[in-house]
Amino acid sequence: MSASVSNHPLHVACIMDGNGRWARRRGLPRTDGHTAGEEALAEVVRSAAARQVGWLTAFGFSTENWVRPRTEVRHILSLHRKLFSRTEEMNRNNARTRWIGRPFSDKGARTPVLVQKAITKAIADTSGNTGLSVTIAFDYGSRAELVRASRLAMSQGVVTPSSIQANLYDPEMPPVDLLVRTSGEARISNFMLWQIKGAHIYFTERPWPDFNRQEFDQAIASLTGSPA
Ligand code: FPP
Repeated sequence: MSASVSNHPLHVACIMDGNGRWARRRGLPRTDGHTAGEEALAEVVRSAAARQVGWLTAFGFSTENWVRPRTEVRHILSLHRKLFSRTEEMNRNNARTRWIGRPFSDKGARTPVLVQKAITKAIADTSGNTGLSVTIAFDYGSRAELVRASRLAMSQGVVTPSSIQANLYDPEMPPVDLLVRTSGEARISNFMLWQIKGAHIYFTERPWPDFNRQEFDQAIASLTGSPA
């Protein structure tokens, strides 16, 4: 069954919250919650590919997340390298990797070189795939993206919605149809403020590591009947 809204392939975006709480409830370190969160994302990628979703965007690491304890940040970075190295799986699912975040050479950008390399390689190794586009937002913040896009548009002498769109980190990314946030928080947290303009929002109490195929299907089903 293919998932689409008004004839364009569906774009689902996820704010993957609750890894820490998931771990705490089990008496585990927070890092185990993130490890389980990376596995949950891999399962959601498989589910999205099976449902013929067009775009899946996940908030992997925000511009605000750098203040977390060093060991936690290191662990999350290593999980990103793991995620970006799932090339065989991506190819099996005909899925291509994309990335949004502060461009590596921009002032203030913080993506470490090893993660930069993993991102660049994942994009190149999956670029021939024609199905699902999986975008990871890493070192990403929507305000930074919009300030940059506005500055670039101004320097080009035209500030319109389409000139801002053309200067976003990924101008080809279509608007988000469905935004999912897990773990009971009903907030947006500086995530794709431009792209979610008309999105349906699905909040669930489940923490991200428990967000499975059934939950994903339920989130998609919640779109039915919501206005465009
Ligand atoms: C929120 O959990 C999650 C994040 C910090 C970002 C998402 C990270 C992952 C899903 C881990 C690995 C994922 C990738 C993409 C490699 P939290 O720590 O804020 O949870 P809490 O609010 O319960 O403390």
